[in-house]
Amino acid sequence: EKGGYDHFMLKEIFEQPSVIKDTYRGRLHANLGLIQMAGVEDNLEKFLNAERIVIVACGTSWHAGLVAEYIIEEFARISVEVEYASEFRYRNPIINKNDVVIAISQSGETADTLAAIKLAKEKGAFVFGVCNVVGSSISRETHAGAYTHAGPEIGVASTKAFTTQITVLAMIALRLAKAKGTLTNSDFHRYLQELELIPDKVAEALGTNDKAKEIATIFKDAPNCLYLGRGYNFPVALEGALKLKEISYIHAEGYPAAEMKHGPIALIDEHMPVVVIAPKQGHYDKVVSNIQEIKSRSGKIIAVVTKGDTQVRELADYVIEIPDTSDALSPLLTTIPLQLLSYHIAVMRGCNVDQPRNLAKSVTVE
Ligand code: F6R
Repeated sequence: EKGGYDHFMLKEIFEQPSVIKDTYRGRLHANLGLIQMAGVEDNLEKFLNAERIVIVACGTSWHAGLVAEYIIEEFARISVEVEYASEFRYRNPIINKNDVVIAISQSGETADTLAAIKLAKEKGAFVFGVCNVVGSSISRETHAGAYTHAGPEIGVASTKAFTTQITVLAMIALRLAKAKGTLTNSDFHRYLQELELIPDKVAEALGTNDKAKEIATIFKDAPNCLYLGRGYNFPVALEGALKLKEISYIHAEGYPAAEMKHGPIALIDEHMPVVVIAPKQGHYDKVVSNIQEIKSRSGKIIAVVTKGDTQVRELADYVIEIPDTSDALSPLLTTIPLQLLSYHIAVMRGCNVDQPRNLAKSVTVE
């Protein structure tokens, strides 16, 4: 049932090209210039009248929410806040009838997320779910929603759920942008085409598996690791660090690259591996200067770069190349080598990759 893979996690990482396609199939029509999602279509007015969107989630789903914040604000120009469901539910949050709350959950059973939904409903908000498990508590408790079609995720570390969540949320952002006219027609069409190409590019990014394994042999005994990214890839840095922590038990932190100089740079010496997400699009030059700062303090740099990159290659100790795409969709690609790196490090450390200690697949108690 692991389909020839040693672990469910690896199988699920490699399923990403097909499950991303399953998730946009029937919804994304690049040739027609259309996005059709029943849950959004039926409630379009609610989305368009929203003064803001509040996203609630936990863990990896919360990271997908952060990516969505950047995408929705950029594409649809609607203000977005992202909250840990566990914090939101206990802090008497200000929620108005005109707010749209999006709850993101792979399992659809996370207790804190479910409680946050109930609270938002009591306060009169429209609550939209992004779940993977059909018929789950969260999918039943929300007013409407859109499923990710990732299929069963068995490995405790979430991988394909994350990329399919981003796929759904990007489609929502594009649909709203279309309705609001906040993207130019040519940008809108370009993004639809880019999204359609993502499965093939993810497949290409999976070709970094051997490279990730080689890098894993070098850093498997590191006690700490830092992950840095900016913009759309700041949440990917958080997610990369979470993946390493939870399955390999190496302490890791994710940071927005520019925050380094406000504290974490003090940690950097020749023993500190720093994973830097530095695709060509976005804040490339700024990330390059962050890399220079790390290098001048002898940090070991592992960089995720766009195919053909030369500038970072000169500075980094190890580079992992991924295909080019637009900045907003780059998390779907940059996250792939980070999943693989964590996986190989955990395997080499003899950890139980699919069932890490102290963790449960769905957290049904707070
Ligand atoms: C990390 C992980 C957890 C979950 C979190 C939320 O790999 O799996 O952080 O993302 O427990 O779970 P769901 O998405 O089921 O609500």
